[in-house]
Amino acid sequence: MMKAAFGNRFHFGVAISAAQNEGAILDDGRSASIWDNFVRRGGVIRKGGKTSPACDFYHRYKDDLLLVKALGFNSFRFSISWSRLLPDGTGKPNPAGLQFYNDLIDECLQLGITPFVTLYHWDLPANLQREGGWESPLINRWFRHFTKICARAFGDRVKHWIVLNEPAGFTSLGYMLGKHAPGKRSLEGFLKAVHHAAIAQGDGGRTLRQHVDKAVIGTTFSCSEIRPHTDKTEDIAAAARIDLFMNRLFIEPLLGKGFPEDDRGLVQKLNKQNLSWKYTDRMQFDMDFIGLQNYFPLTVKHNAFIPLINASEVKPAARKVPQTAMGWEINPSAFHRIIKRFWKYGGIKEIMITENGACFKDQLSQGRIADNERIRYFEDHLQEVLKLKKEGVRISGYFAWTLTDNFEWAEGYEARFGIVHVDFKTQLRTVKDSGYWWRDLLAG
Ligand code: BGC
Repeated sequence: MMKAAFGNRFHFGVAISAAQNEGAILDDGRSASIWDNFVRRGGVIRKGGKTSPACDFYHRYKDDLLLVKALGFNSFRFSISWSRLLPDGTGKPNPAGLQFYNDLIDECLQLGITPFVTLYHWDLPANLQREGGWESPLINRWFRHFTKICARAFGDRVKHWIVLNEPAGFTSLGYMLGKHAPGKRSLEGFLKAVHHAAIAQGDGGRTLRQHVDKAVIGTTFSCSEIRPHTDKTEDIAAAARIDLFMNRLFIEPLLGKGFPEDDRGLVQKLNKQNLSWKYTDRMQFDMDFIGLQNYFPLTVKHNAFIPLINASEVKPAARKVPQTAMGWEINPSAFHRIIKRFWKYGGIKEIMITENGACFKDQLSQGRIADNERIRYFEDHLQEVLKLKKEGVRISGYFAWTLTDNFEWAEGYEARFGIVHVDFKTQLRTVKDSGYWWRDLLAG
């Protein structure tokens, strides 16, 4: 594969996030985030992993950026810790928080790396959660304020912005399934969070447009091809319901299509509980790019025992197809099809693959990690990006997830996605073979 085939304006990047990388949760006036609190509950994180020290990126960002540079990436995606920047959640910024992100941005620019800033990557300040978090309509006011502070502080140098990271992820895992912070399990809460996150997408876009000259504004969505296990009508209907929750719920209001209402059965069930979708024009915004993040496709079947959705996954192991160490199916052509499908919505100016990557059981042996499966994963998915480009899909970037092994949410430190290995006891970094593979690719 040749780098040149992607065109010379292509963003080859690597992505991280504040809660997963920074650590230093008590330093310099930062307040607690919902994740700092959630991890203290017993039994929610594998092997009891905590949000600190993570990769200690707060103190080691210069070294980590040197790695980004040495591996040849031209773009770097990171998120802003809301609790570090605005310890009260609202009000005035913390000078040390401003300083950290200013230094990080300046360092990127000095190295010739384009910073892509994500405003919200799942780490709400805990004090805003006490007032209802994403379930409260106040979140929209808080989020506009946070966005304005970021835009004004960093917008002179940061041009590439991402409003939300995967709203489907934090609303469903955090408010319905209880697996992520804040650990709630309520359909009503979930639907409120969905509603407010959809408004935040539009509000975030408008606030950035207003305050950042020449901004390139996007937001990210997770996407997964959902296939019925058999061609029985009930399995096909089950797949359509999962598709609605996982793929359609957030992008369609953003594109001005409103919430998906064509699955009458599901919508009727929601309406029965007086939770009809509420759509407002504020959910719509003309993004400069749409960030798509794909990790796996899902195969699903009808399952009457699962409330509301009446569907469950048929795992890759049961189907004997390749999978990652987290049991996620590896299927590059399904990646191709789902990106194509999003493109076909129309009205999307550009797509960037803002995350893609895989976790495997890496073995560190004599200072080397021969992670051939990860190399293969990247290579196969990049080939699909090239094919999509040839078919006329405007894709202007690809960000590998992730730079260093990091705090993988409910999986703690047990799931490694990095192209650089981290020994969490010593913070020693070791570039994996996949990192060297990227270096060779990007060296052209
Ligand atoms: C999230 C990342 C996460 C990755 C792998 C994405 O949904 O944005 O924060 O680490 O998936 O699970």
